[in-house]
Amino acid sequence: MRTAKRLHALPPYLFAALDRKVAEVRAAGVDVINLGIGDPTEPTPDKVVKSLQAHAANPSYHRYPSYIGALQFRTAVASYYYRRFGVAVDPESEVMALIGSKEGIGHIIWAFAEPGDVVLVPDPAYPVYRAHTVLAGAEPYPVRLVPERGFLPDLNNIPPAVARRAKILFLNYPNNPTGAVAEKSFFREAVEFCRQYDILLCHDAAYAEITYDGFVAPSALEVEGAIDVAVEFNSLSKPYNMTGWRLGMAVGNRHALNALGQIKTNTDSGQFTAIQMAGVDALGPEHDGFVAERRRLYQDRRDRVVAALRKAGWEVTPPKGAFYVWLRVPGPWTAEEFALRLLERAGVAVSPGSGFGEAGEGYVRLSLTVPDARLDEACRRIVEAGQQL
Ligand code: MLT
Repeated sequence: MRTAKRLHALPPYLFAALDRKVAEVRAAGVDVINLGIGDPTEPTPDKVVKSLQAHAANPSYHRYPSYIGALQFRTAVASYYYRRFGVAVDPESEVMALIGSKEGIGHIIWAFAEPGDVVLVPDPAYPVYRAHTVLAGAEPYPVRLVPERGFLPDLNNIPPAVARRAKILFLNYPNNPTGAVAEKSFFREAVEFCRQYDILLCHDAAYAEITYDGFVAPSALEVEGAIDVAVEFNSLSKPYNMTGWRLGMAVGNRHALNALGQIKTNTDSGQFTAIQMAGVDALGPEHDGFVAERRRLYQDRRDRVVAALRKAGWEVTPPKGAFYVWLRVPGPWTAEEFALRLLERAGVAVSPGSGFGEAGEGYVRLSLTVPDARLDEACRRIVEAGQQL
């Protein structure tokens, strides 16, 4: 069997590789605590589950779904954007349903970037931006996120010759993996930059609802004129504990959504309409309290983890958003060595920062999505192992 050469340029998907390692160590009888992936362990709201059960029985939903998404779902997304961000979008042309935001993020690259083009990819970042750029034969240009700048990219540092070749700029705030947040003024700069160089701004807003200490994350679309150059990817996964449901949305520029639709219609046939209808229930104002409760839960967990690590004398900056702690490796190891040792010696899985890009070297990412008692136990084991190593 002869696979395509393009696979050689692609590392194994970080979280799939991690899953495999966790399974191996578990098979050897170790009680592994998995802080490697951001996958909430608490259930989806009951009303949303019941809504899916009821809608799944509707035979009209057993047929092919709409390619761009059920109008009820797109309307619910538009209402949510207006309620939450004050952003008015047309559900008919400026909202598209996705089979999870990951799918849309991967596919939009195929609609815009080809060999010879550049895609501006933050480093470190969610691995999908880079992976699909490479698959599409375009060139990822790493835009460094450093702690000195609050993990916000310095767009002025991108050489104009590179910017002129760029088709897409990816941004993601609240940020995975660093936990940094961005103010609206930063998005204003990004919109201006994209307008100047005719670049599509793709903002991954999957963690927009997960913020701490009262910070309210803006949408990139709040910036005046953003819709001329931007598409925002959003997801029901994190705020409503729905990672397994695969439901997300792309919101923004209609021409960009049409281009994305051209790739999608040739690739998939849309998400099960019953899932989208349950998504309508999730996005309603009655679940705002549920989402606020998630914020309290993760903030409390963040504080427990930061306190435990600081008690061990380790340097750690509390994240302002997303549900990850971005920890400097407390010793002379690479990120991968430290992650492997934690897994093998302490039974705790974390993501090595280097899996998010070169600039992630020297860090590991801890997810706050496991129950409190397990998280406390994981911190105890991490500190113990880190001090012994
Ligand atoms: C993460 O842990 O970064 C994400 O949840 C993984 C994903 O969305 O694929």
